[in-house]
Amino acid sequence: MSGSVVTIASLKGGSGKSTLASSLAIHWKSKGFNPLLVDADPQRSIMRLAERELALGGVDVLEQADKSVWTAIQQQSPMHSVTIVDTPGFDSDITVAALAVADLVLIPVKASPLDVDRMMDTVKTLMSGVKGWAPTFRCVLTQTIRGSVISRHIRAELEEGGFPLLASEMPNRVAYAEAGLFGATPTLTMPDGPAARDIAAIADEAEALLATKKALSA
Ligand SMILES: Nc1ncnc2c1ncn2[C@@H]1O[C@H](COP(=O)(O)OP(=O)(O)OP(=O)(O)O)[C@@H](O)[C@H]1O
Ligand SMILES: [Mg+2]
Repeated sequence: MSGSVVTIASLKGGSGKSTLASSLAIHWKSKGFNPLLVDADPQRSIMRLAERELALGGVDVLEQADKSVWTAIQQQSPMHSVTIVDTPGFDSDITVAALAVADLVLIPVKASPLDVDRMMDTVKTLMSGVKGWAPTFRCVLTQTIRGSVISRHIRAELEEGGFPLLASEMPNRVAYAEAGLFGATPTLTMPDGPAARDIAAIADEAEALLATKKALSA
């Protein structure tokens, strides 16, 4: 996974980008990797978490909320096993720059029809934003509710539309907000809990995609 860049992007605000970005970074650190978490969002959600008590478990954090994020990632990512980039929830040069350096793009999407329509716009806009861009990208269903049929419907709709999805989801769990109070994620505060397991499953899928990409480009 050495030097890989995973960009978390969606033009829909509040879809779970910062939560997923911080959770993946802490998960990979807990597995003994040396991740870098880049805050490319002027809202500074990641930096604010890093200022709280548990400081994201000591994950290396870089604040770069302008389009020079492209250069910063090129310089910093070779020194880390994986770089995770949190982007703004709107169309911007920053997002395009963060996509241009990505090996893998994860697009969190809430399991609701309104969010799905916006996600499809996201993919189209992002695709047209970067010349010659051929990233591996996957949608990730977030804030899904157990026992509800909605996530199954949305999953089928996305698959039918040709939007690839991770098999793992990020179900709705209060553990994310609770951990956030301390500047952490569930992997730190409840390592054996269900949210930590959800994130581990997402991370495993991401690792497999990065390994495939590396093997193909070798
Ligand atoms: N799986 C989840 N279960 C419960 N709450 C969640 C989950 N994912 C995200 N949230 C909550 O949803 C809210 C929005 O999440 P987050 O800030 O990660 O979204 P975002 O896409 O980064 O938003 P923005 O576009 O504003 O940057 C937060 O309050 C967060 O705690
Ligand atoms: Mg955010």
